Amino acid sequence: MSGLFISFEGGDGAGKTTQLAHLAEWVAQATGREVVRTFEPGGTELGRTLRQVLLHGSDIDARTEALLFAADRAHHVASLVRPALERGAVVLTDRYLDSSVAYQGGGRELSAEQVEELSLFATDHLLPDVTVLLDLDPAHLPQRLTHDPDRLERAGGEFHTRTRQAFLDRAAQDPQRWLVLDASRSVEELAAATRARVAPLLGISPEAGRHAESAPERTRGTTTRGEGDR
Ligand code: TYD
Repeated sequence: MSGLFISFEGGDGAGKTTQLAHLAEWVAQATGREVVRTFEPGGTELGRTLRQVLLHGSDIDARTEALLFAADRAHHVASLVRPALERGAVVLTDRYLDSSVAYQGGGRELSAEQVEELSLFATDHLLPDVTVLLDLDPAHLPQRLTHDPDRLERAGGEFHTRTRQAFLDRAAQDPQRWLVLDASRSVEELAAATRARVAPLLGISPEAGRHAESAPERTRGTTTRGEGDR
């Protein structure tokens, strides 16, 4: 596969979507490559139904929840992510399989190994080239949320502390893939650190295309999926 696959991970309200938009804008301008923005759960039509059940449905037991996230991911990879990578696109996803290991493995206290195995089955072992973790103390969650909390966001302080720790543990195991950033830093500092990590993989300088940068709302050559679709 000739594309580049980058995931953004972190707790709710850590600023992943903003950072993803900045990176998408910059990659498109600096390289002219096709950039595909997507997200989990719900980056596909089937996924939107699963997302509704997962985030806004009635109570679901932990194993069912893990299987539904894995089903969303399997379809997302098969129908959208893998074809885009095969076309040579740069694919940026707001959450991917590490969210399952952290939330269902850590937060819900299923076995992290089993949840990872399930996700690797779902994706046929497709892992991101880079994963950016926006690490935020869950104590900051209430100030950052701008919408009514969903089923996962309502899960409680200890759940979110376990989830955060699971992300950090996982990142420490594979520093080659992970870039861990303190999400309380400024948007521009975080964007610059992300560009610095990704630029060598694109064969460009982190400063490439910077003079032309504008607001990350609309980007030529960028397939925008995200906010409006959720
Ligand atoms: P979303 O509104 O996309 O949250 P955010 O803006 O924080 O990314 O909701 C996704 C929720 O689903 C979020 O609380 C994390 C959770 N989640 C899991 O528990 N497991 C998973 O595998 C994924 C992808 C998300």
